[in-house]
Amino acid sequence: MKVFVTGGTGAIGSHAVPELVKAGHSVSALARSADKAAALAAQGASPVTVSLFDPAALAEAFSGHDAVVNLASAMPSTALFMVRRAWRATERVRTEGSAAVAEAALNAGVDRLVQESVAMLYRDHGAAWIDEDAPVDHYPATTGNHAAEASARRFATAGGTAVVLRLGLFYGPGAAHSEQMLAQARRHLGLVLGPPENYLSSIHMADAATAVVAALGVPAGTYNIVDDEPLTKRGYADALAHAAGATPWVRLPGRAGLVFGDRLTSLTRSLRVSNARFRAATGWAPRHPSAREGWAATAAELARDR
Ligand SMILES: NC(=O)c1ccc[n+]([C@@H]2O[C@H](COP(=O)([O-])OP(=O)(O)OC[C@H]3O[C@@H](n4cnc5c(N)ncnc54)[C@H](OP(=O)(O)O)[C@@H]3O)[C@@H](O)[C@H]2O)c1
Repeated sequence: MKVFVTGGTGAIGSHAVPELVKAGHSVSALARSADKAAALAAQGASPVTVSLFDPAALAEAFSGHDAVVNLASAMPSTALFMVRRAWRATERVRTEGSAAVAEAALNAGVDRLVQESVAMLYRDHGAAWIDEDAPVDHYPATTGNHAAEASARRFATAGGTAVVLRLGLFYGPGAAHSEQMLAQARRHLGLVLGPPENYLSSIHMADAATAVVAALGVPAGTYNIVDDEPLTKRGYADALAHAAGATPWVRLPGRAGLVFGDRLTSLTRSLRVSNARFRAATGWAPRHPSAREGWAATAAELARDR
C-alpha cells in the first residue's frame, strides 16, 4: 500500500515507519526539519515537508496514497505533566491537526485513516477487564484525544475506513520518559502511580509499531493496543526495578498521587485493558507480553547502545 504517516518522526512513529517499510509498504512521512527528513529517508521513507494545519497542502501531499496514519502528538515532558498549559501544543495537534488530516484525506480520496488515541480515556474499572465498548471519560488531558477520535468518526461518516488505535502507556528505547524512569529505578525510586493494586495497561513502542502495520488491514473500528497482561501499579514498579537491577526502597507517589485529581488521573486510575478484539481481527500479538519482558528488553537495548 502507499501510506502517508504524520508524526512518523516521534516516539512511536520512529518505530512504525521502518516497520511499515519492512512490511513492503511505500511510505511517505511528514518532516518538519532537514534532520528529520534525513532520518526518514535513512529509514526508507520519502520525507514531505508540509504543515499539519493546512488541509489544502495536506490533501496535495496525501494524493495517490491508500492510507494515512496520524501519529502526530506533542505531549509535555513528564516533568510538566501536571501543568495544564503544557498540554496546549498537543491539544492543538490532536484537535486542529487531526481535523485537517481527516479533511485532507477525504479530499484526496484516501480510503483509510488510522488515528492514534489512548486507552487512558476509559473510566476506572478496578480489577475488571476493559474492552472497546466500555464507557470513556472526559477530563482536561483527554480533550485532544476525544477530538482526534471525533475527526476519525467524521472521516468514517463521509464514507472512509477509519481505524482508531487506543494505545496503552507506551515505553521503550527512544521515549524520553522511559529513560528517565529507568534512571529513577536505578536510584531505588519505585514509581507507583496511584493505589498499588490498581492496574496499568502498557505497550512497548516496537509492539505499537507492528500494530500500526496490522491496522492497515483491519475492519474499521476502535481497537485497544495494549500488551497481553496489564500489571498492577506495584507489579509495574517491580518490573521496572528488576530491569534496572535495583530494589525499590521508596515507592512514590502511591495513593498520594490521587490528590492531584484529574491532572494525574490518566495515570492513577485502574485500567485493565484487553487487546482481544485487535488480536482476533488481525492475528497481531505483542512481542513483549507484559511490561516485565518489555522493560527488561528496553534496559538491555539501552545498555547495548550506551
Ligand atoms: N504517550 C505516552 O504513553 C507517554 C507517557 C509519558 C510521557 N510521554 C513522553 O512524551 C514525549 C512526547 O511523546 P509524543 O507522543 O508527543 O511523541 P513525540 O515523540 O513527541 O512525537 C510526536 C510526533 O508528532 C510530530 N509533531 C508534533 N507537533 C507537530 C506539529 N505541530 N506539526 C506536525 N507534526 C508534529 C512530531 O514531529 P517532530 O519529530 O518534528 O517533533 C513527532 O513526529 C515522549 O518523548 C514521551 O517520553 C509519553
